[in-house]
Amino acid sequence: MQSTVSEIARDVFRISTFHSGFGIQFNQFLVRDDEPLLFHTGMRKMFGATREAIASLIDPAALRWIAYSHFEPDESGALNELLALAPRAQAVSSVVGVSVMLDDYADRPARALADGEVLATGRHRLRFLATPHVPHCWDAGLLFDEGERVLFCSDLFFQPGDPEPLTRSDLVGPAGTAAQAGAQGPLANDMPWTPYTEATLRRLAALEPRTLAIMHGSSFEGDGKKAILGLTGVLRDVLGP
Ligand SMILES: [Fe+2]
Ligand SMILES: [Fe+2]
Repeated sequence: MQSTVSEIARDVFRISTFHSGFGIQFNQFLVRDDEPLLFHTGMRKMFGATREAIASLIDPAALRWIAYSHFEPDESGALNELLALAPRAQAVSSVVGVSVMLDDYADRPARALADGEVLATGRHRLRFLATPHVPHCWDAGLLFDEGERVLFCSDLFFQPGDPEPLTRSDLVGPAGTAAQAGAQGPLANDMPWTPYTEATLRRLAALEPRTLAIMHGSSFEGDGKKAILGLTGVLRDVLGP
């Protein structure tokens, strides 16, 4: 298993590992700064590939922050391996993520980020947004790089296969197709539509991101507000009341 590394915004790198068994990419994102931050750890079983990719960008021992959207093996599975690799690294998650998951699971104490709190890593200012159950899981949260206008949006805009690192093409159509396909089969119902899903998505759109750093599939460069509002409509049609 091998990862490919691409810069999708200034000092924001996409580390992509294609998993032939699942037929999808697992993407982590490294913000290279005074205090380097990784968003998503990748699965424990793909840690070798992730570690090699990080080492092509920074000294892995210098990693300072380990962030992720929600507690699942692809988002946070290799957390303890990373904590062992980087002695100064600390996990960050939502208040729910720390008190319900990490206080027990993580090998070192994690830091809880309040909704709206900013984590400054040097040149980059990363705003944390608590997004319970978006894309899924109680502890879910996302980061927004305010200077580069990159929204790290986790499982939103899911695309299957092994597509290019960065696209300007429409992702709303494919997301609708994936959501419809995802409503059937043994892995159905990955994303719930709750009374606060639409407000959460509209809050993300209002950030007006320029780049969407997507976990499974190409990242997107362009009108992020329009893309998220488009996705909101598609998801409401497929999942909504
Ligand atoms: Fe997930
Ligand atoms: Fe995921």
